[in-house]
Amino acid sequence: MRGRSNPVYCAIDTIDLPLAARLIRSVAGGAVPAVGGVKLGLEFFLAHGAPGVRYAFPAPVRATGIGFFLDLKLHDIPNTVAGGIRAVVELEPTFITIHTAGGAAMMNIAAETAASEAKRLGVARPRLLGVTVLTSLDRSDLEATGVTVDPGQQVLRLAALARRSGLDGVICSPLEIAALRRECGKDFVLMVPGIRPPGAASADQKRVMTPQEAMALGANHLVIGRPITEAADPALAAEVLARDLGAL
Ligand code: C5P
Repeated sequence: MRGRSNPVYCAIDTIDLPLAARLIRSVAGGAVPAVGGVKLGLEFFLAHGAPGVRYAFPAPVRATGIGFFLDLKLHDIPNTVAGGIRAVVELEPTFITIHTAGGAAMMNIAAETAASEAKRLGVARPRLLGVTVLTSLDRSDLEATGVTVDPGQQVLRLAALARRSGLDGVICSPLEIAALRRECGKDFVLMVPGIRPPGAASADQKRVMTPQEAMALGANHLVIGRPITEAADPALAAEVLARDLGAL
């Protein structure tokens, strides 16, 4: 497996700006980054916005070619989501998330806007990933919202709708990888959180898989947070993961 690109996106889940900058520098700032990308999400972006991204993830770190996953989980009327996408393309995210439950028109215009704005700015087109059924929702939570189909079926349905609506892939739990790969084909991006190295604490993640298991099932990218960020030496933890995956 040696030599394949590093699938690990490190989740930087904090509103502590200096800490985020330090973590990103340590896992992504070396000549050979220990991760394939970093993920900044809602809490960081709401606290610090675009200037915070530029500070924590500055050009010299970006220059290593590292990926940037901006996990905003947008969900609104099509025009507003398009405006949100337009506002962040200049940050050159590799991936942006939107909720598939926003519907086909919302996803279509988000995809079109990502492409047209990237072209206008002369930057790479951000890939759009859909959030299907949140893993925090079970069957009875879904029923309470009027969704009475099996949660697994709903995930497949929303992923298929996302694909038809111009999205590049979805976020999915390890347990959904195999069915989504079958349903959506080999080119659909599957970005997978809920990953724990063998022996690591699962914390609040209930259904975890190892990086190797998830990749073998067909994941493209793995989102891994605390096993890296809470390690005594985050860069070393990320390096060990990468080596085990044959990516360093
Ligand atoms: O620390 P940990 O590895 O559990 O972090 C996983 C990351 O993936 C967090 O940023 C979390 O918000 C995100 N995520 C998740 N489960 C989902 C969707 C996203 O853990 N179903």
